[in-house]
Amino acid sequence: MKVLIIGMGYVGTTMGVVFANAGHEVTGLDIDEGKIDSLKKGKLYFYEPGLQEMLVNQMDHQRLSFTTDTKKAIENHDILFITVGTPPLENGNADLTYLKKVAQMIGRFKNREKTIIVKSTVPIGTTSKVEQWISEAGADSNPVNVAMNPEFLREGSALQDALYPDRIIIGSDNKTTLKTLHKLYQSFSCPILKTTAMAAETIKYASNAFLATKISFINEMAKLCDTLGVNIKDVSKGMGLDDRIGPHFLEPGLGYGGSCFPKDIKELLLTADTYQRPLHLLKEVEKINKNQSSYFIEKVKNSFDTLEGKRIAIFGLAFKSHTDDTRESVSFPIIDQLLEEKSNVVVHDPVVQLSKDWVGKGVQQSSDPYEAVKGCDAILICTNWPVYKELDWERVHQLVKQPYIFDGRNMLEAKKVKDLQFHYKGIGYS
Ligand code: UGA
Repeated sequence: MKVLIIGMGYVGTTMGVVFANAGHEVTGLDIDEGKIDSLKKGKLYFYEPGLQEMLVNQMDHQRLSFTTDTKKAIENHDILFITVGTPPLENGNADLTYLKKVAQMIGRFKNREKTIIVKSTVPIGTTSKVEQWISEAGADSNPVNVAMNPEFLREGSALQDALYPDRIIIGSDNKTTLKTLHKLYQSFSCPILKTTAMAAETIKYASNAFLATKISFINEMAKLCDTLGVNIKDVSKGMGLDDRIGPHFLEPGLGYGGSCFPKDIKELLLTADTYQRPLHLLKEVEKINKNQSSYFIEKVKNSFDTLEGKRIAIFGLAFKSHTDDTRESVSFPIIDQLLEEKSNVVVHDPVVQLSKDWVGKGVQQSSDPYEAVKGCDAILICTNWPVYKELDWERVHQLVKQPYIFDGRNMLEAKKVKDLQFHYKGIGYS
């Protein structure tokens, strides 16, 4: 099938590659010439494991191309996916500016019947607005069939998640649209749930909210475990063995970050408030998440008389491993708190480059973790990059001034580093 994907961000680009791999003829459209130039050259402009290779492969097979020519692209396609960003506004609401612009553009260039599939995460009720925006901007009276098809891929494992999803949710009130989408996804082996557009929008938010709840729940348990002297890893494992609970998203740490959970939880809370149906549990989830970095810093503070003048190495800037995304990464509030304490901060990340602003604030970056730890008083692990697990910790011990490790991701084996004479503290684990 011939598919147009509008918005070449993480989701759009990944889905483009995956649809091409499923045998469809895909065109990726974006108004950002820089992004399209790069993609046309077969170069992914962000870091995502495995995606670069498959992108080139699909382009070589002539199943994937890119353009900035909006008019021509819209005119030449009947199935259009919208994957533009819906970032949070200052008040927490999703910014629908890009989505509305795309809808109006579709309306303007629509020359025959079109199927429009919203894949961007949008506030509940937005898909019907998209239909309205298209109609209002349209000179042409042919029907538009709009559907909501939420995306569940994770950064860092986007390709695998998109190739092998757990489920596909298709929301539309139109039978023909549901059939078109079913056909598009027929080579995928997972269950396909057909529902209304509003239910599909709700499924996306409810899923992210539930996962965030699991994370805040286990973070609360980890704090209790710190007090009780119980190992949270055993608790997570023991809980996860119950099929009804499951082992996933029970890893305590520094709280959830990234471009999705924080934004989607805020949006859902606001939507619920609008309908006078406040989500009390989710409000607590958000609060617990916000406090997680302070809890971690308190642990560091409690181990020293003062943090003033202490050299602190931060391991990891990305919001999680295998991505170069730093949006809502907890590393930055942690660095901020350390700067407030007048510590000297040196950071390491395998892929992220510190911005000039942070360099201007006196934060140093080292491309080598062993360099970063030289003469430091404490190491704070903030991102679960596997490279930190694999370090020669004996060598690290020789390089540091004081052997303190604060493991915000419970990555290291406590016994192993303690045997090397490190003071080690994780979250609910030491
Ligand atoms: C999340 C969802 O997992 C995807 O299903 C969804 O499609 C996506 O949001 C989205 O809405 O677009 P993502 O934000 O890429 O994906 O990353 P996750 O792997 O879910 O991690 C989110 C945060 O939770 C990270 O900061 C991670 O470190 C943290 N986390 C995750 C924990 O602290 N503990 C865990 O056990 C799992």
